[in-house]
Amino acid sequence: MSTITPRAMGQALDRLDGADKVRGLARYAFEHPVDHPAYLFPVQSTVAVGRITGIDRSQASAQPGVLAVLTYHNAPRLSTEDGELRVLQSDEVAFRGQIVAAVIAETSEIARHAASLVRVDYEGRTHNVDLRAEVPGHREHLRVPNEVLPLFPMDTAEGDVDAAMASAAVRVDEVYSTPWYTHNALEPHTTIACWTEEGFTLHLSTQGVTGIQAGVAQAFRLDPSQVRVISPHVGGAFGSKVYPRADVVLAAMAARSVPGRPVKFALTRQQTFSLTGYRPPTIQRVRLGAGSDGRLTAIDHRSIEQTSKLKEFAEHSTRATPSMYAAPNRGTQQWVAELDVPTPTIMRAPGEASGMFALESAMDELAIACGLDPIELRIRNEPDTHPHFHLPFSSRNLVTCLREGARRFGWERRDPTPRARREGGWLIGTGVAAATYPVLRLPGSKATIRADANGRYAVLIAAVDIGTGTRTALTQVAADALQADVEQIDLRLGDTAYPPAAEEGASAGITSWGAAICAAADQLRQRLATEHGGTVPADGLEITADTPENEYLKQYAMHSFGAQFAEVRVHEETGEIRVPRQLGVFACGRIVNPKTARSQLLGGMAWGLSMSLHEQSVLDLRFGHVVNHDLAQYHISSNADIGAVEVHWIEEDDPYVNPMGTKGVGEIGIVGVAAAIANAVYHATGIRIRDLPITLDKLLPG
Ligand code: MOS
Repeated sequence: MSTITPRAMGQALDRLDGADKVRGLARYAFEHPVDHPAYLFPVQSTVAVGRITGIDRSQASAQPGVLAVLTYHNAPRLSTEDGELRVLQSDEVAFRGQIVAAVIAETSEIARHAASLVRVDYEGRTHNVDLRAEVPGHREHLRVPNEVLPLFPMDTAEGDVDAAMASAAVRVDEVYSTPWYTHNALEPHTTIACWTEEGFTLHLSTQGVTGIQAGVAQAFRLDPSQVRVISPHVGGAFGSKVYPRADVVLAAMAARSVPGRPVKFALTRQQTFSLTGYRPPTIQRVRLGAGSDGRLTAIDHRSIEQTSKLKEFAEHSTRATPSMYAAPNRGTQQWVAELDVPTPTIMRAPGEASGMFALESAMDELAIACGLDPIELRIRNEPDTHPHFHLPFSSRNLVTCLREGARRFGWERRDPTPRARREGGWLIGTGVAAATYPVLRLPGSKATIRADANGRYAVLIAAVDIGTGTRTALTQVAADALQADVEQIDLRLGDTAYPPAAEEGASAGITSWGAAICAAADQLRQRLATEHGGTVPADGLEITADTPENEYLKQYAMHSFGAQFAEVRVHEETGEIRVPRQLGVFACGRIVNPKTARSQLLGGMAWGLSMSLHEQSVLDLRFGHVVNHDLAQYHISSNADIGAVEVHWIEEDDPYVNPMGTKGVGEIGIVGVAAAIANAVYHATGIRIRDLPITLDKLLPG
């Protein structure tokens, strides 16, 4: 398919739904008005693994206003193999916080109170929840995952790493680790479930209405046409709202159990810590071997993560490594440990965010071992073609990003000696790291375009805008695809009443949905030209098209790249860490909307600081749950923690990625930040921290 000419694309348009959002007119799932709603509150297990031996719901049921108490005894039977969705189907408990009962009542207060009166007895078993303890101890818990998401080879061995390491002039062989991170979208997971003889209508905060429709239809043995999912506005998601989870199924079950009553269910912040997924902790070993000139002879990256016993999920933390640097001997491998924990899920840059902390920290360690500037080291190892697929890159501007970033950041003034700069009691250091994210196109989208004789176009697709600005950017894409003005486009999304769409994920939204819109626009213009003399007939013309496969995928490797820079100050006496300055330069193809794209990249960088210094879900190993399960204790970087954040990008004109020339901007902003900060902390203090987050207790011994 041919590329489209940018006219609307590239304009910094205000969000089309911005005014509605600030006026409170944009409706989020829980705010959808429904008649006579009932409210749901779940009861969560207090053991991490075991069996329910008895449930007494008499006291809860006796409360005035309680409509039903669901347990595994009376809940509707589900037909799904997805362990996450099999809510209230058996007496088995697989993690602490799992839903073991639920109360439906006239008000949320009654439901919550009655839930506290449900008495559940358990026969608990000894639990394993600690990934770090599992790794050296119980090797039988480790296995290669069946798949990682999105699909990419896990085992990428080439050459002989061990031999190359043995003969390398310079070696780095270190273990890096990252903690359990929780998404914490501003809007918690919410559902309103309505059940009629036609089926379900679900008002839901989700990243993918089509996927939820399929999951719920299967669980309840319905045809997908009997499940309508509506999600016009979403208050953040970050991966936690892609896949259907227990909360949606439970709300749907509840609606079936109280006929005629829509059921409203909003998770509390605390419940989201056990029920909505998280970024799994990782333990990663990186080995780098090089000549004394810094040219890599070996790169090897292995990662161990955790998954639950209900369902396998593996983040692909070694995914970025084979795409980064040239070396004749390379390998990656992944393992998962099945623990008595909730199932993890994707979180912004699932894989790259954790994996590039390890690889890019190791590259910094190698640069120091070789006595080379870390930017020069990366430039020396720049590959001619994709190191694993041996294909040329459709476009690759890592070196441009590094050089442009160095210029803007003032890198040439840097004295490479650690602890060389000191102001007052503060040690000052700077660090750099590379970033990458693949250009992905998800299958399963269709777009319908209806041209009206009055010059307007209705563009229908069941995509969602999770707060990123999709509605605006996709309207710009549609305008250019149709060679029309933005004002002529009426884009409708967020509803399974429109043609199916892939989820908002993998930084692939604009690519997947935009490619379908371009295909439909192409066909529409052809039909108009060949059958209607170039004018829209009086009764309009409608075309539906699928996202085409990318014919260039066999010829080119497709990635975004970036360079992350950070300045840190570490207080000599207290170990306090401040980050006054972050700078990122990205090469992400065409930028559809500079305003919303900048906000995506900036948000990613701010979150990168948060994952570097502040965030971690702390487990109580005695019970197996996250103890800091609220925003008072799980610290997310706030305004006072973030310094100056500069976002820049390189103009790229890539005709191979998709007709828009876009690569996606949702995720790459977080990639590499943690390594840039850890590298800067080393430069400031001479202390290498290989275990995130970097907290002052880890610095004080040095
Ligand atoms: Mo993104 S973590 O693929 O929603």
